This record gives sequence, C-alpha cells and structure tokens, in this order.
Amino acid sequence: MKRSIWLTLSLIISTSLMADSEISEARQQELLNFLVQDCGSCHGLKMKGGLGPALLPEVLAGKNAEFITATILNGRPGTAMPPWRPLLLPEEARWMADRLLQGGL
Ligand code: HEC
Repeated sequence: MKRSIWLTLSLIISTSLMADSEISEARQQELLNFLVQDCGSCHGLKMKGGLGPALLPEVLAGKNAEFITATILNGRPGTAMPPWRPLLLPEEARWMADRLLQGGL
C-alpha cells in the first residue's frame, strides 16, 4: 500500500517536472499551425517556397538551428521576412527551426 503511494507520487512529480522544461503538446500544435498557415503563406504550405525561399530540410542542410532560430526571431531586414520576436518565445522559435530541419510538414 505504502509503496504504491510513493510510486504514484514520484510519477506525478516527474511528469510535472518534464512538462515544465518542454513546450506543451497544445502549444506545439499551435506552433505547427502557425508554421503551415503564417509561415506557409510566404514559404508555401509544404515549405516548398513561394514569396520566400523553400524551407525544406535539404535546402536548410548546412545551416544550423541557432542561425535559423535567429532568422525567425529577427527576420531579415530589407527583405519580406518579418521578425517574429513579438509573437514567439526564443524556445518556440527554436522548436520551429528544429521542426523545419526535421521536415515532413
Ligand atoms: C511575408 C512573407 C514571409 C513570411 C510570412 C515568413 N517569411 Fe521567412 N522569409 C521570407 C523571405 C522573403 C525570406 C528570404 C530573405 C532573404 O532574402 O534573405 C525568408 C527567409 C526565411 C528563412 C531563412 C532561410 C534560409 O535559407 O536562410 C527562414 C528560416 C524563414 N524565413 C523562416 C520563416 C518562418 C519560420 C516563418 C513563420 C514564423 C516565416 N519565415 C514567415 C518571407 C517570409
């Protein structure tokens, strides 16, 4: 009896610790919609390019996640790529960069 209470407690604690250090499932879904709808309006719904360049893994290969994250947060002054810092936390932009590098959107 006592043992199962401890097991339950430690499970609850470890799950909530994990949730703290990660982007929630719900927010990930929002970020994914954002990528397809907002970013996709320039980069293409399948990230194959449009007004903006393609953002497929094979195109981004060789660019690291920090560089892509910085581009998302700061935009590219003098081009149509706007800064997204007002709408995204740095870790959310990083999540998007990783998601783009992973591909399959
Ligand atoms: C209004 C159009 C527009 C929207 C919306 C837009 N972009 Fe862009 N993006 C551009 C253009 C144009 C460039 C090319 C800039 C240049 O010439 O360097 C670009 C460049 C980029 C690059 C650099 C690609 C490379 O090969 O270096 C990344 C990464 C990127 N955008 C990600 C995003 C993400 C993520 C979003 C959504 C949060 C987004 N963009 C929304 C127009 C847009």
